[in-house]
Amino acid sequence: MTVRFLALAATSTIGTCLFALWVWKLRSRRKQGKVKFGREIREQEFVISKEVSPCNNGSFGATPRPVLRARQRFVDEAEDNPDDFFVSSKAMIYYEESLLTVADFVGAKMEHLVFVQNTTTGINSVMKSFKFNKGDSILVSSLTYPAIVNMAMDVCDNSDKELQFIKVNINFPIHGKDEVIQKYIDILEANPSIRVAIIDHITSSTALLMPIQELIQACHDRGVQVVIDGAHAPGQVQLNLEQLGADYYVGNLYKWLFAPRPSAFLWVNQKHYKTVKPLVTSHNYQQSLQNQFYQQGACDYSQYFSSEAAIQFYQDIGGYEAVSQYNREMVEWAMEMLAEAWQTECLPIPDDMRAPFMGMVALPEGCIINVPTTVSRDYTEKLKEEIHNKYKISILLGYIQDRFWCRLCSHVYNSKEDYFNVRDAFLDMKMENSKIS
Ligand SMILES: Cc1ncc(COP(=O)(O)O)c(C=O)c1O
Repeated sequence: MTVRFLALAATSTIGTCLFALWVWKLRSRRKQGKVKFGREIREQEFVISKEVSPCNNGSFGATPRPVLRARQRFVDEAEDNPDDFFVSSKAMIYYEESLLTVADFVGAKMEHLVFVQNTTTGINSVMKSFKFNKGDSILVSSLTYPAIVNMAMDVCDNSDKELQFIKVNINFPIHGKDEVIQKYIDILEANPSIRVAIIDHITSSTALLMPIQELIQACHDRGVQVVIDGAHAPGQVQLNLEQLGADYYVGNLYKWLFAPRPSAFLWVNQKHYKTVKPLVTSHNYQQSLQNQFYQQGACDYSQYFSSEAAIQFYQDIGGYEAVSQYNREMVEWAMEMLAEAWQTECLPIPDDMRAPFMGMVALPEGCIINVPTTVSRDYTEKLKEEIHNKYKISILLGYIQDRFWCRLCSHVYNSKEDYFNVRDAFLDMKMENSKIS
């Protein structure tokens, strides 16, 4: 019995030491920038299926192994003694530590930041606690994420203040930032009822980097508050939220920053501290913004707590500079390669409005047939699923100005092979269709 116990202890001690050594070696390799982006980092650090070509990081992100392990440690700790974890100050301490790390990363004061599950929740929280006057309007754009447009419609439909929502149309080609800024100015001047504008930092299925600093200024000059939808920004662009000076900024941590799903933050300008409320009212009603958002019934906070590990991972692999250089080069190469192979074109937008890690390429003529007269999001989602099942490629499809486009994403685990698979899938679809007709 004693011998067996000692053997077991020795094995587990040796096991633990070996594991710690492996983690330490991996970490120092990452720190020295020796884990190569592409295949190597994908195999070592991600659990993405070998079968798939994952070119759609922009939708759900991908969580690396060390972050998954960190999350599991928090889950285990909570399970070990739930009362102690949630009721004592333990969870609150982890929450504040995580918030502080995220605040540092996005250039925010910790007091201005709260965790929310995702961008949709964050923007809903802002808009559903907004103090509207009778006849006010909400401004969105033709490129606003559809779920957020629905939310704006819902706010208008369910208010007794006769609210309206107004859309600014942004069409392609876009020749320069000024063109977009002018469109906003024109619509703001023509509609003095606009009280709040929801502006995407990076648009979803058009991959456009919006000139948000100038748009915030244009809105503020006309007394309009601004909610920035930064679903795609953290990790993809560098942020300094205090300097940016929006009224509200919501950003996902799970898309480009390696945090587990769902996790996002909401930044609130101090001016609006007292008006913003979470969607769920709980014990901390009427307390500080942070207390109200922290306590929304019994919650799982493990994904928020692991944002520290996610940011650590991002920094260990080289931080913004290394990640950005790899992804920009890859996405640019992939767009050119595909446009040439398909004999199509990239979405006509100026270089300084391109999302750094995402890009749009028109699909080859004839690869999608029997197109309905109205192409809905449901239709493109169904198509995407069929393509995924047949060719094992993950991409987002967009339908812009009567044409199909695919949105390419690049993150550090992508390699050129992924985009060659995308190329071949659509060429194969085109060939199959040509046999039918
Ligand atoms: C621009 C934009 N806003 C909002 C969302 C919604 O994000 P979430 O699903 O995290 O709420 C997305 C999702 O991709 C998006 O692209």
